[in-house]
Amino acid sequence: MSQFFTEEGSAQAVNARMGADVEPRLKIVMASLVKHLHAFIKDVQLTQEEWEAAIGFLTRTGQICGNERQEFILLSDTLGASMLVDALNHRRPAGATENTVLGPFHVVGAPEREMGASITLDGKGETCAFEGRVVDINGNPVAGARLDVWSDNPDGFYDVQQPGIQPQWNNRGIFTTGDDGHYRFIGIKPVSYPIPDDGPVGKMLAALGRHPYRPAHMHFIVTAPGFEKIVTHTFAGDDAYLNSDAVFGVKETLVAPFERASDGNTVWRSPFDFVLTPVGGSGTAGA
Ligand code: BEZ
Ligand code: FE
Repeated sequence: MSQFFTEEGSAQAVNARMGADVEPRLKIVMASLVKHLHAFIKDVQLTQEEWEAAIGFLTRTGQICGNERQEFILLSDTLGASMLVDALNHRRPAGATENTVLGPFHVVGAPEREMGASITLDGKGETCAFEGRVVDINGNPVAGARLDVWSDNPDGFYDVQQPGIQPQWNNRGIFTTGDDGHYRFIGIKPVSYPIPDDGPVGKMLAALGRHPYRPAHMHFIVTAPGFEKIVTHTFAGDDAYLNSDAVFGVKETLVAPFERASDGNTVWRSPFDFVLTPVGGSGTAGA
């Protein structure tokens, strides 16, 4: 094989430049990246104009990023890469609650609220009681589990998307379970909404004939000492976008009942139990 760059030996020519003391994992990842990148370019016989369009797209993706906007994660989400990385790294035994994407709208430091309290500060939307238990894989209650929850309002926006319009911390809160592992809070029945689609990723979706919508969901981060952190949502099973989530976040086990409440306290009730696995209890990434 020639030491110079040739079409046939292109990936090898690049990978042969790798130094002798490269960190082993970096060596594996970069060599594979180059191999697959070159194979992709050959597979589609990429034209010069397409290469320029790709550079332009990536440049615009970077340029729109800032403190409030992470377009590269949105790109990863819409290409299914975020869900795949999560799936590889969070394999769990059957029955354990599955993860899904975090999304860009989590805010650290939400108010701690009393069990049973409402998270809805703007009084908008159809009230919904979210309740259930946090248990271990054997069904034993987990005390001291923290549930960090957030959702959109009935207009399809998170509070951070509408500062000055929605109160800060609207539809957010943190709840901690007692000895019985039970949780309950009052929110609203969430609604479907489009991911931010006014940038390059939105243009990409449109060019691909894809809509930008996510089915209605309530976000949860559930943590407890000795257990793996769960980053997940529960989805409303009656949502029109359940089978076409723009970021591929829906899993069958995360579709929760949203039923009419019978106690008259709220309009809706959504029961869901969280099943935690011990730290180190999930599978590790493999082939
Ligand atoms: C969200 O559910 O908040 C979300 C997830 C991924 C991309 C955009 C939004
Ligand atoms: Fe969301």
